[in-house]
Amino acid sequence: MRVACIRAHGGLEALRHEDWPDPAPGPGQALVEVRACGLNHLDLFVIKGMAGVDIEFPRITGGDIAGMVSATFSPDDRAWIGRRVLVDPLVVEGRKRMALGEHKNGGLCERLCVPVGNLIALPEDVSLERAAALPIAYGTAHKMLGPGRGDLKRGETLLVLGATGGVGVASVQLGKLMGAHVIACTSSAEKAAKLVALGADAVIDTSREEFSAAAWRLTDKQGADVVVNFTGGETWVPSLRALKRLGRVLVCGATAGYDPVEDLRYLWMREAAIIGSNGWERENLTALLDLAAGGALSPVIDRVVPLAETASALAALRDRRVFGKVLVTP
Ligand SMILES: NC(=O)c1ccc[n+]([C@@H]2O[C@H](COP(=O)([O-])OP(=O)(O)OC[C@H]3O[C@@H](n4cnc5c(N)ncnc54)[C@H](OP(=O)(O)O)[C@@H]3O)[C@@H](O)[C@H]2O)c1
Repeated sequence: MRVACIRAHGGLEALRHEDWPDPAPGPGQALVEVRACGLNHLDLFVIKGMAGVDIEFPRITGGDIAGMVSATFSPDDRAWIGRRVLVDPLVVEGRKRMALGEHKNGGLCERLCVPVGNLIALPEDVSLERAAALPIAYGTAHKMLGPGRGDLKRGETLLVLGATGGVGVASVQLGKLMGAHVIACTSSAEKAAKLVALGADAVIDTSREEFSAAAWRLTDKQGADVVVNFTGGETWVPSLRALKRLGRVLVCGATAGYDPVEDLRYLWMREAAIIGSNGWERENLTALLDLAAGGALSPVIDRVVPLAETASALAALRDRRVFGKVLVTP
């Protein structure tokens, strides 16, 4: 089978296309014919290498996988054969929580073996491509905004940085579904127009206006109740500045730097809460599939490309030329 993999960290030239033997399911596993694999910023980090995260080589990235089950190891699991499935990218082995495409091989290949426990049957009216757009980006946003983490309430103001990426569009759409007033930030006028079309109540074009000042202006000098910041770096202090008193900053990543300068004055002046959120739970994925099946949520898909074009699709993600999700169809 054809795979896109890395054998060492590097730039996108590290991504290689190879022929590997077809895998066969081991105990507790099912063989999934990959029909769609969603790309995430995580794939760029895996390829480049991340401080403190050991990646084993060769590694196939791509954690968001939807496909058809073609075989199972155990005859007891045969009912899965022929079914359309979404694969939960979180594999739990004992106390280890591992992600497909990062700690284990992912879906940038024609077929892969996954634990049967990670299979989620797809509702009839959710396509394989839409399903593959959901887990990592939408799942993370769903958990981050939901009970126990951000706890976003109807009528609250939600400010989303990097609103055009995977987690960004998901935060905008889910924020609207939860009844928030959503202010979306992006770096270009073209993407700003798309955010308005997606339903954002207001948009800040950060190429023209500093976002904390704009947020202050757009909220009548009150600030946002909740700020979604997975960017870090230079956006960190302005995110605190954009906050209402007793507001919450939600953090699930740090695309532009994980060790930003801090300004503690905003923490006490705003009486701010900083809430970290990591990944998703199974109930986030099933809730998202229900929303998609019922037509309330339509994941934003920027483009669908064949496996051979994975590197150029990842380049678009790296260079911020994407609105929503990019899918690969191996
Ligand atoms: N903890 C978790 O479980 C988890 C899960 C998913 C994602 N994450 C993290 O969340 C972040 C976003 O992931 P994603 O897949 O949604 O990424 P993405 O699709 O690449 O989107 C990121 C968005 O942020 C903005 N951006 C990109 N680079 C930037 C930079 N250097 N400075 C400022 N803004 C920048 C861009 O929007 P504009 O050009 O419109 O500004 C881009 O569309 C990543 O850091 C990822 O690792 C964490």
